[in-house]
Formats: sequence, C-alpha cells, structure tokens
Amino acid sequence: MNGNTILAAIHGRRSIRVYRPEPVGRAVLEELLFAAVQAPTPPVSGSSPWRLCVIEGAARLAAFGVRAKEYARIHQPPGQHWEWTERPGFEVFWNAPAAVIFCARSGHPEAAFDCCRAAQTLLIAAQGMGLGSCWVGAPLPWLTSPAVADELGLPGGHEASAVVLIGYPAEQPDGQPRPRPDVQWC
Ligand SMILES: Cc1cc2nc3c(=O)[nH]c(=O)nc-3n(C[C@H](O)[C@H](O)[C@H](O)COP(=O)(O)O)c2cc1C
Repeated sequence: MNGNTILAAIHGRRSIRVYRPEPVGRAVLEELLFAAVQAPTPPVSGSSPWRLCVIEGAARLAAFGVRAKEYARIHQPPGQHWEWTERPGFEVFWNAPAAVIFCARSGHPEAAFDCCRAAQTLLIAAQGMGLGSCWVGAPLPWLTSPAVADELGLPGGHEASAVVLIGYPAEQPDGQPRPRPDVQWC
C-alpha cells in the first residue's frame, strides 16, 4: 500500500452492519490478523500481550448474538442502562461471517490497550483489503462471563477485550466523517 492508499483506507472506513453471506477465507483472515499484530506495543507488554480468537459462521454468530444481547439485558451494570439491549433490530454480530476477538493477558495493565491498538490496525487493514468491519463492544459482557469463555474455548488467563466483525460489505454507509481537528500548535 502506498501512502495515498493508506489514507484512502483510513478516510473510507465506516462501520459495516450489513454483510454478504459468503465466508471470508482462512488465508485472508490470517493475513488480516498478521497485519493487526504489527500494531505498536510498549516494551512492558512483551511479545504477546494478546491472544487472538476467531469465531466463524454467520448463523453461529447470529445465534450467539441473541444470547449475548439477552445476557447484557439481564446483567446491566449498576446505575446504567444499556438501551441497545432492548432496541428491536439491534444485532450484536450483524450477520457477519467472522468475528475476531482480541483477548488481553489478565492482570497486565497495558494489554487491553494493546488489544485496542491491534483492533484499530485490523480495521484499516480490512478496509485496504476490500473487507468490511465493525468494532463491537456489545458482545463483551457475555464473552467475559467465565462460563461463556469456557464454552467457546477462549484462552485461560486472558479476557476478551476488543471484538471486530469481518466480512464482505453489503452496504456503503455515508457515515459521519469527523471534521478536521482543532489543533493547538504549542
Ligand atoms: C469500543 C467500540 C465499541 C463499539 N461497539 C459497537 C457495537 O456494539 N455495535 C455497533 O453496531 N457498533 C459499535 N461500534 C461502532 C461505532 O458505533 C462506530 O465506530 C461509530 O459510530 C463511528 O462510525 P464509523 O465507524 O462508521 O466511523 C463500536 C465502536 C467502538 C470503537
């Protein structure tokens, strides 16, 4: 990718919530994950602050999504109400054919940030590769419950920290690109 292509990927990326049904091949997913882990990490994080997991299959993810939404509806955080848990039409996994879960090493102060940096890198790489993506926080309450982490085989000693949906886009949202920042030149 040259510089212009990278800028086009950054500015052109929008969250995709409608996906074509075809799966994303393993080789493509592996290329994406390889790109994601090129994100910078501080020395304190060591070589692998994360474990990467992939759930494949739109139908499987859709069924998990129903459970995740219901789990979050029942387990609202104290003093807060997740309105999306009762919003008709809100889907946790948006019928994507794949979800990448970045699991952060437990008890490590930097690992969750490392996962976010890798997830953001994944979004841009996906855009550059003609794939659609959406970062989703909605499944996290469910994915971080110990019984579900066990059921899905998420790695022990790690906690799901960032989730990105991947698939071929079936929409081109206009989105709301951010205006130029108001910079203070110091
Ligand atoms: C930490 C985080 C959590 C998010 N969670 C969800 C989510 O659960 N469901 C969803 O549809 N979008 C989710 N999004 C996507 C945002 O809604 C979206 O990025 C934002 O509206 C800006 O739109 P854009 O990505 O098209 O530029 C999340 C984004 C981030 C960064």
